[in-house]
Amino acid sequence: MPESPAPVSSIAASSAKLIDGKIYAERLRAQVAAEVAMLKAEHGLQPGLAVVLVGEDPASEIYVRSKGEHSLAVGMHSITHRLPADTAQHALLRLVGELNEDPTIHGILVQLPLPKPLDEHAVLAAISPDKDVDGLHVVNAGRLASGMPALTPCTPLGCMILLRETLGDLTGLRAVVVGRSVLVGRPVAQLLLQADCTVTIAHSRTRDLPAICREADILVAAVGRPRMIKADWVKPGAAVIDVGINRVPFDDPVKAAAGRTKVVGDVDFKAVSQVAGWITPAPGGVGLMTVAVLLQNTVTAARRLAGIGAA
Ligand code: GUN
Repeated sequence: MPESPAPVSSIAASSAKLIDGKIYAERLRAQVAAEVAMLKAEHGLQPGLAVVLVGEDPASEIYVRSKGEHSLAVGMHSITHRLPADTAQHALLRLVGELNEDPTIHGILVQLPLPKPLDEHAVLAAISPDKDVDGLHVVNAGRLASGMPALTPCTPLGCMILLRETLGDLTGLRAVVVGRSVLVGRPVAQLLLQADCTVTIAHSRTRDLPAICREADILVAAVGRPRMIKADWVKPGAAVIDVGINRVPFDDPVKAAAGRTKVVGDVDFKAVSQVAGWITPAPGGVGLMTVAVLLQNTVTAARRLAGIGAA
C-alpha cells in the first residue's frame, strides 16, 4: 500500500507563510536566460516571441509591455504588434498566419480579451499549435486533458510551480479550484490531476461553496471576484493560491472619492492569512509567474520547432 500523504491540517500555522512569487519568477527567468544563451551559442537559435494586442485596454497594455520587456531581458527576439480596436477579423487572422510562417518567431500570444466583435475562438484556432505558447489552442488543451506533452497555459503552470516549491509532492492532496475558465480554472485542474491530487472544480453554480472549499488542502481561487474567499472557507494549514487580479476602490474614503483604485485578489488576504498554512499575495504572487512561464514556454516551443531535445 502506498503511504498516505500527511494531512495538510497537521502542519497548520496560525499565521500563513507567504509564497513569494517574485523569488520563484526571478529564478525561472534566470534559468530561461541561461537556456537562451546556450541555444544561441550552441545552436545559433534565438527563441522569438510575438505578442499581439488589439485595442487599448489599459490592463492589457501593461501586461503586453511586461511580456515584451521580459522577453528582451532574457535575450529573446521579441516583437509586439499593436492593432487598432476596430481591426477586422480577417486582418487579425492574416497577421496570425504570417507569424505562423515566420521562422524567427517560435511563440505567438494574442492578448485576451479581444474587443468585440472579434471572435476569440477563431483567432486562437488560427495559431499554430506548435507556436501556441499560451496553451489555449484546442489541440494543446486536448493534449493536456489526455495527459500528453503540451504547451500549457502560463498562469496554471505558474500555480503548479509555486505549489511544488512549497509543498513538494502533491500526491493524494485534496485540491479545490474555484473557477472554470479556459485560461485558468480548467487547465489548473488538469495539472493538479496530473500531479495525483483529488480535484474538485467549483464555480458560480456550486452548492455550499464554503463547505467544498473547507475540504481543500490546496485551494486555487480563480473567479475574478474581489476578496470572495473568506477565512471560514479555508481549512487550517491549507495552501491558498490566489489568481485574482481585481481593481477596487481604495479603503481610504479620501482616496476612493478621488477615484483611486488598487488591485486585490479573490481571497480575503488579511483574514485568510490567519488560517491558511501558505498563501500567495495578490499582487506579488501568481501574476509574476505568468510572464516567466511564458518565456519558458517560448524556449520549449523553439526547441521543439528546431528539433533540439530538452537539456
Ligand atoms: N489575458 C489575461 N491573461 C492572459 C493570458 O494568460 N493569455 C492571454 N492571451 N491573454 C490574457
